[in-house]
Amino acid sequence: MKATRGLWLVTGAAGFIGSNIVETLLQLGQNVRAIDNFATGHAKNLAEVRRMVGEDSWSRFEFIEGDIRDPDTCRAACREVSYVLHQAALGSVPRSLDDPLTTNEVNVSGFLNMIDAARREGSGVRFVYAASSSTYGDEPNLPKIEDRIGRPLSPYAATKAFNEVYADVFRRSYDQKAIGLRYFNVFGPRQDPNGAYAAVIPLWVKAMIEGAGVRINGDGETSRDFCFVTNAVQANIRAALAPDEAWGEVYNVAVGQRTSLIDLHGAIAQTLSELGVSASDTVVHGPARPGDVRHSLAHIGKAGRLLGYRPTHDLRTGLRDAMPWYIDLVSKEAE
Ligand SMILES: NC(=O)c1ccc[n+]([C@@H]2O[C@H](COP(=O)([O-])OP(=O)(O)OC[C@H]3O[C@@H](n4cnc5c(N)ncnc54)[C@H](O)[C@@H]3O)[C@@H](O)[C@H]2O)c1
Repeated sequence: MKATRGLWLVTGAAGFIGSNIVETLLQLGQNVRAIDNFATGHAKNLAEVRRMVGEDSWSRFEFIEGDIRDPDTCRAACREVSYVLHQAALGSVPRSLDDPLTTNEVNVSGFLNMIDAARREGSGVRFVYAASSSTYGDEPNLPKIEDRIGRPLSPYAATKAFNEVYADVFRRSYDQKAIGLRYFNVFGPRQDPNGAYAAVIPLWVKAMIEGAGVRINGDGETSRDFCFVTNAVQANIRAALAPDEAWGEVYNVAVGQRTSLIDLHGAIAQTLSELGVSASDTVVHGPARPGDVRHSLAHIGKAGRLLGYRPTHDLRTGLRDAMPWYIDLVSKEAE
């Protein structure tokens, strides 16, 4: 990649996954345009990327503060790009239960604006988008295999399922090249631990470093295939550069290992203890959350076969790499 320089558009670039993608693309010598409206992302994430990559690489970065609900903004963002890595969306199942209308506007209409802007650009723009494991819904079998999905269990899951429907329709109607990456519980540096809709790992890590207890929704046997963000970044880049036969498909992006919430708590506690951080081990149980699937585990063979995807981090190594960022955040917030 370092030998050829393309123009990449990353949507949702001030967010968790988007900012990690931007960082890697700049390190790989690429030109990056980014768009975000800071709905859930932060300018400080981009400032951190700037520090990490240095001023030389940062000169290849261009930022548009804008909303993907506006079609003209999406058209302007897509001008002359070769690749779109579409990450902008409102995440979180509980948020979508509280406000299904805004979730739909951003995740479905915003998606449609972006893929339509990509196909209107007309020069074979390659469109890779953040799909979700929530699309498996009530499908009971494990591991999850791409072509066996159930009914969505939340408005958020419905929006992500619609993304896949639209991507397929754009392939049939306009020959638009698209790949959907069904992320499974991604975690890592810059995932926001604050706010009502924080994901479990940043929420718990921060609480434990601060000496507070954690709350487990349900009996603690709920399980997830936790995927370190470096794996998700790798999947995006491999997808964008994939050969023709890989396009028009969706892929699981995960590790292929399942961890219960109780074991996750133990793994975080152990990682903190290995780093010499004294952490609270208090756990309280609350009721299970509506809209959550019970177990999740990905089959990642398809991404391996067609994209060459190979996760480099499992839960333990990912936690070890993520932890210094959270320790630093907690000490900065305490200042
Ligand atoms: N984190 C996960 O575990 C996970 C799992 C499955 C799917 N996903 C998907 O991955 C993508 C990235 O998620 P994330 O975890 O980085 O979340 P995030 O909230 O950190 O990032 C999303 C970014 O999109 C931006 N955004 C939201 N609405 C926008 C709008 N109208 N216009 C422009 N920008 C807007 C936000 O400001 C934010 O910076 C999302 O599409 C999400 O649904 C994430």
